[in-house]
Amino acid sequence: MVRPRVEVRLDEGAVAVAAVDIVERVVALNPHAVLALPTGRTPIAFYAELVERERTGRIELSQVRSFNLDEWVGIPSTHPATYARFMEEQLFSRLRNRPTACYIPDGTAADLDAECARYEIAIREASGFDLAVLGIGNNGHIGFNEPGTPFDARTHVAEVALVTRQNNAYSFPDGQPPSRAITVGIATILDSRSILLLATGASKAAVLERALAGPVDSQIPASVLQRHPDVVIIADVAASACLSRKL
Ligand code: PGA
Repeated sequence: MVRPRVEVRLDEGAVAVAAVDIVERVVALNPHAVLALPTGRTPIAFYAELVERERTGRIELSQVRSFNLDEWVGIPSTHPATYARFMEEQLFSRLRNRPTACYIPDGTAADLDAECARYEIAIREASGFDLAVLGIGNNGHIGFNEPGTPFDARTHVAEVALVTRQNNAYSFPDGQPPSRAITVGIATILDSRSILLLATGASKAAVLERALAGPVDSQIPASVLQRHPDVVIIADVAASACLSRKL
């Protein structure tokens, strides 16, 4: 088994630089690359670096297609905490040239299962992800694939774990995130030709160690990445504090 490659960088800014280096290589090799993109606190520095390189002409994203990993269910697109809004603010509106297509699940769809099926088909029609960029939740989730999610899950409506709702309360004016979200499934993520997981801050140290050095276990969804042949983890010093040198 090829183990995920772990790269340790000093801080969040250095993690962002190393991560965008990888995106730059993928897009240079294939300008039509299909990217899966994360939200949350971790990728903010990553998007700032990506915007900087796009605006200075080092990277061209205009022919790329992007698929966000997830979206909250039941909040309107005007709500400040939607991931659609996050992506506009952190990435899309700041680029000189937007990607050809930027897909985000519609968490307001009347028929959520049909929306999940539609999203999964759109990913398949794009020939899947060339690179999936992921964060990791404090409970080991990837996307909103919370502990216990089957590894063969495709895009689906997920019940968001309490700890995840608590961790995301900051972005909701009333401190109450929805209890459900649409997420790309674990199987869809594993189909990606390459995977890049970003982890920053001491709060991720213990779960990162369990995901990489523990058994593959659906209670730590990110541990399934041990089964993928092309995974790079970029972590800052704080997030990698529990990793042994053997990894
Ligand atoms: P965070 O979330 O970047 O806000 O810590 C990561 C995740 O839940 O994937």
